[in-house]
Amino acid sequence: MSFAKSVPQCIFYVLIWPMKKEIAMSDNRTLIIKLKDFTGQQVSLAGWVYQARSSGKVQFIILRDGTGLCQCVVEKGKIADELFEKLEHLGQESSLTITGVVRAEPRSVGGYELAVTNAEVIQSAVDYPITPKEHGIDFLLKHRHLHLRSQRQWCIGKIRHTVVDAIRRFFNDNGFTLIDTPILMAAAGEEEQSLFEVDYFGSPLFLTQTGQLHLECAAASFGKVYCFGPTFRAEKSKTRRHLTEFWMVEPEVAFIDLNGLLELAENFVSYIVSRVLQSNKPQLETLGADIAGLENIKPPFYRLTYTEAVEILTGEKTAKFMAEQLTQLKQQNATIEKRIAELETEQKGQIKQWKRDKNAAELIDLRGQLEEANIKIENNPKHTQSAAEFRWGKDLGGSDETIISQMHDKPVFVTHYPRAAKAFYMKTDRGNDKVVLNFDTLAPKGFGEIIGGSVREDNYDMLLKRIEEQGLKRESYDWYLDLRKYGSVPHGGFGLGVERTIAWLTGEPHIRQCIAFPRMMDKVYI
Ligand code: 4AD
Ligand code: MG
Repeated sequence: MSFAKSVPQCIFYVLIWPMKKEIAMSDNRTLIIKLKDFTGQQVSLAGWVYQARSSGKVQFIILRDGTGLCQCVVEKGKIADELFEKLEHLGQESSLTITGVVRAEPRSVGGYELAVTNAEVIQSAVDYPITPKEHGIDFLLKHRHLHLRSQRQWCIGKIRHTVVDAIRRFFNDNGFTLIDTPILMAAAGEEEQSLFEVDYFGSPLFLTQTGQLHLECAAASFGKVYCFGPTFRAEKSKTRRHLTEFWMVEPEVAFIDLNGLLELAENFVSYIVSRVLQSNKPQLETLGADIAGLENIKPPFYRLTYTEAVEILTGEKTAKFMAEQLTQLKQQNATIEKRIAELETEQKGQIKQWKRDKNAAELIDLRGQLEEANIKIENNPKHTQSAAEFRWGKDLGGSDETIISQMHDKPVFVTHYPRAAKAFYMKTDRGNDKVVLNFDTLAPKGFGEIIGGSVREDNYDMLLKRIEEQGLKRESYDWYLDLRKYGSVPHGGFGLGVERTIAWLTGEPHIRQCIAFPRMMDKVYI
């Protein structure tokens, strides 16, 4: 670069530097998350009214700013009367800046309060549709564009952010190379029934069900690789575990066996859990997640073969376990119903508005719990029967996984599934050709599968036989077969579903709440 050119450039950067700094600090506002550094000082917050109540003399505005919640206390006489009145009529989700002195208040949300000295309304919102009263899930999904602002969705969003960051960090710090695999695919990577077809200039292509096959190519170049992105399955199933668009992270490793994969998976999952515990305890608490249970998630995880899992399912211990669970659920529901009745009576009487709102929030929570428990009560006999009648050879169904995972307090690896029930690419166990060298990871306490993985068939002839056995078009897999012709090595990998992992960590019953804009079989709203 010539000197004449670089001088104006230097001047440009010198001029822009303070601007950049100013952009970062914006309008001198303080973030709620930083309030602890400003005790006794005057600050300005900017955000939205999350909740508000007034006694006529004092108003309590709970402000949210994206980093947290802060109770702002507005006392009559301490600000202009006109402003006091304006704030008193401010609707939920109105936007404003608010100035005041920070004081520690352990009883207040977040532990700090603002004694308000001034405020400026940016936009006054009227009749925000999502009120503290109960709304059905359909209503909330239709209003997802607004519901994302709720505490629950905010907490889940913050946890998702940590999970995604932990995923990338784990692989980047452990010698893996990121490979961005394609979204448009020429052939199936998993069951053909769940392919989404796309019209690609007059010919059919499919949305990716897995990056695995392409990752296998890359593993032969880089050794240890991973891909991370949206994944599509036309699942004709409306369960709480299925989305049609979900995020999956898939590592693939050359020179690895089944034990190596299990070790990688348990270290990986434990790392994600530890990062969430480190960064998101307040959010886990708000969501009522099982923090003590998560603190227990450390290697080694439990290991069962599929055959052992079948013995458990059909054994007496399981029948007894399920019967005990049914009794417990019924007792739990009776307690919840009693509390709901108490609250409903209270709501009919004369009570303060803040108490009414608090009760309404508790009722929403309790009714959700009741609904969940009722589903479990209804399913219990069906699941018990289906477990008792389980026969070797079938793939484990959702309810079978639920039972096994309910019986464990840490994740369980189930390995060596029947060959006939599994995908073509899984390596046949050379010691027992009825099973493959694969594993599923079942999250504990009833959550079920979060990971599916396997060692890959690395023998050309065996792989070809499997492709033909499953009625797949050989031409579509010629390139995949080539990998077995040129320097084939033992290799394998797995896929972890992000939304299912978040549902397990947060205790959220339905994975649709674990992605900002969910896509489900029957509904895509926004
Ligand atoms: O078990 P799956 O189908 O495995 C594969 O796709 C392999 N090709 C991965 C690999 O070996 N590289 O899917 C992996 C995980 C599941 O355990 C689950 O967590 C998630 O992806 N998953 C879904 N999540 C939400 N909705 C769906 N419809 C899902 N299908 C799979
Ligand atoms: Mg699976």
